Amino acid sequence: MSYNPFSLAGKTILITGASSGIGRATAIECSKLGATLIITARNEERLNETFTQLEGKGHQKIIADLTINDDIDRLANVIPPLDGLVNNAGIIKTLPIQFINENDFVNILRTNTLAPVFLTQRICKKKKYNRNASFVFISSIGGVFVTTPGNAMYGMSKNAINSFMKFTALEFAPKGIRCNSVNPGTVESPLINKGTLSQEDREKNIAKYPLKRYGQPQDVAFGIIYLLSDASAWVTGASLIIDGGLAIL
Ligand SMILES: NC(=O)c1ccc[n+]([C@@H]2O[C@H](COP(=O)([O-])OP(=O)(O)OC[C@H]3O[C@@H](n4cnc5c(N)ncnc54)[C@H](OP(=O)(O)O)[C@@H]3O)[C@@H](O)[C@H]2O)c1
Repeated sequence: MSYNPFSLAGKTILITGASSGIGRATAIECSKLGATLIITARNEERLNETFTQLEGKGHQKIIADLTINDDIDRLANVIPPLDGLVNNAGIIKTLPIQFINENDFVNILRTNTLAPVFLTQRICKKKKYNRNASFVFISSIGGVFVTTPGNAMYGMSKNAINSFMKFTALEFAPKGIRCNSVNPGTVESPLINKGTLSQEDREKNIAKYPLKRYGQPQDVAFGIIYLLSDASAWVTGASLIIDGGLAIL
């Protein structure tokens, strides 16, 4: 049976932060559903590891540091018109408010907020999109709910992306572009090891999840795929929470 409303066959999709975690899983799953991928990140070796796991042909990998404006411009210049964009690259640093400093905060904002804003803007200015394209922003439940002390810088950076996503949904609808966000709870990826949770805190934290586990990158990838596919053709301006039930509480 070939019926599959979630198919990505014939779609060209750019995924940022594809050298690790959620971005890598999304790239691999998208390739299995027929998409042609352009994957990007800073670390060549890890990006190659993703690249070699992609199914199908015609994929591209582009090294870029999205905190550098020239890299954003170069990326937007070299890509073909897109059917899908996944603004996924992100970093975290947890610090109690009294230890927040400008360097860390600016770094987080550049990566998590300014990079997706300006990459999306450049792609639109350069008309690197096809009609019925879908743009997906990877936010976080930390951008919607205040769940963890020490997460102010990260939470603010992701809350701003939720807001930007809604403006893009409104402004780009006449171009036929849909814009949505995916807001994951904690997902097992290298990113969570950059936080400050001890093993004991981690176990206590997992116990709060109704489904009693953290997510896997694939759990999030499948939500992203729904938003990239034509199955979500009437969905724009929405935030899809994927969090093992944490937000119920
Ligand atoms: N894991 C979680 O619990 C969780 C929960 C909610 C939301 N999220 C969000 O999900 C997204 C993916 O996170 P993850 O868990 O998969 O993290 P990850 O495994 O640490 O991956 C982060 C990705 O972002 C890329 N990246 C970081 N800074 C970059 C820069 N300046 N320029 C270009 N690429 C950059 C990294 O690639 P290079 O180092 O190779 O550049 C890497 O591919 C992030 O936006 C994160 O905030 C994660």
